[in-house]
Amino acid sequence: MEIFLDTADIDDIELYKDFIDGVTTNPSLAAKSGAKDFEGLIKKICKTVSGPVSAEVVSETYDGMLAEGKRLAKIHSAVCVKLPCTFDGLRVCKALSADGISTNLTLCFSPTQGLLAAKCGATYVSPFIGRLDDIGHDGMALIEELVDVFDVHGYETKVLAASVRNLQHVIQSAMIGAGAITMPPKILAQCFDHPLTTKGLEIFAKDWKGRK
Ligand code: E4P
Repeated sequence: MEIFLDTADIDDIELYKDFIDGVTTNPSLAAKSGAKDFEGLIKKICKTVSGPVSAEVVSETYDGMLAEGKRLAKIHSAVCVKLPCTFDGLRVCKALSADGISTNLTLCFSPTQGLLAAKCGATYVSPFIGRLDDIGHDGMALIEELVDVFDVHGYETKVLAASVRNLQHVIQSAMIGAGAITMPPKILAQCFDHPLTTKGLEIFAKDWKGRK
């Protein structure tokens, strides 16, 4: 299972680079990072990690997204062009895939969107678990449905579990067989922790220091 860090913060990427296979960004995360030069930011991220770096288009038309996607792909060979799961986004996915450019179809909220992304040759499709949970739907059910559909039909597109809000999302995505997951730094940080590990270390240190 590939693990991506869902951030545009270079310090966090640097901190966790030994544990991640790449990075996903989105326009909100890029804006939050304060970087004025988006392409420069993506280049910097690509130099910090080895592995796919998802960079999202902000154009709203087919022609705009296609031109932007091609421009983003030229920044670095690790760039994975992030496109929305819309009629035009999917058409752009098909065109970029035909050119051998890797893609991540984002804002996926239904199995039909995911199926179309796979048909268009997407490298990854990103179902948003947390945002579905937020409106009273079952985000994990979508992960399960997409993993099943891709498996049954032998699509190579990977399910990239996104909008991850807690460790249960991480554990269940892994158990269901999602090919990839992207986590915000604060969730990845929680993956290392267990109170019994902390307590156990304290006991070992105390016993060691008190040995006769
Ligand atoms: C995915 O690629 C998105 O960047 C991200 O997971 C969205 O998460 P959010 O719903 O917490 O904003």
